[in-house]
Amino acid sequence: MKFFVDTADVAEIKDVAASGLLDGVTTNPSLIAKANRDFKTIVAEICAVVPGPVSAEVASTEYTQMMKEAHVLAKIASNVTVKLPLTWDGLKACKALTSEGIKTNVTLCFSATQALLAAKAGATFVSPFIGRIDDMGYDGMQLIREIRQIYDNYPALHTEILAASIRTVGHVRDAALAGADVSTVPPSVLKTLAQHPLTEKGLAQFTADWAKTGQKIV
Ligand code: E4P
Repeated sequence: MKFFVDTADVAEIKDVAASGLLDGVTTNPSLIAKANRDFKTIVAEICAVVPGPVSAEVASTEYTQMMKEAHVLAKIASNVTVKLPLTWDGLKACKALTSEGIKTNVTLCFSATQALLAAKAGATFVSPFIGRIDDMGYDGMQLIREIRQIYDNYPALHTEILAASIRTVGHVRDAALAGADVSTVPPSVLKTLAQHPLTEKGLAQFTADWAKTGQKIV
């Protein structure tokens, strides 16, 4: 599974990227508003830090304007992935951008049939929002399972499933079990994946016992 971080905070991205475990970044208009800096500057900075796909979302909801915005965003760096909403206009833009060789991430996916259309439009990634479905009292992970099954039924579809709106370590585990290709997670969740109380307890014991030996490795 590939790991993307879901943030527009460049300092956070640099910190996680230093681990060598980061495969890409997703942003959205809400994350850009939170960062409170110039959008295109943020995207350029992120693309310089992370060589993998960096999702930058169009602001328009209308096809012609979406295409204009997409072309501006795609020119920022070669690793920009244009993020488009899963609407009729967004799918039309996805199809057109794909034919131009521009990578796309079709976002705000809440049903398997939406994901089928995104794949048919040639999306590089489709982003089902797990957490927001859970928030409504439904099972977000079921959507990942359905999309996986549908895509596997049609080998001609090459869209990657990017599990989004991930809130917990359990979401990451279940998305991996369900066969999602990518999880995009807040940086805090990514770091929490490495933690386990028994790891900490065991390490404390090993460190204490090693000190008793009085030895040094270097
Ligand atoms: C994904 O690309 C989205 O930016 C993100 O995962 C949305 O998450 P949220 O539901 O926590 O806002």
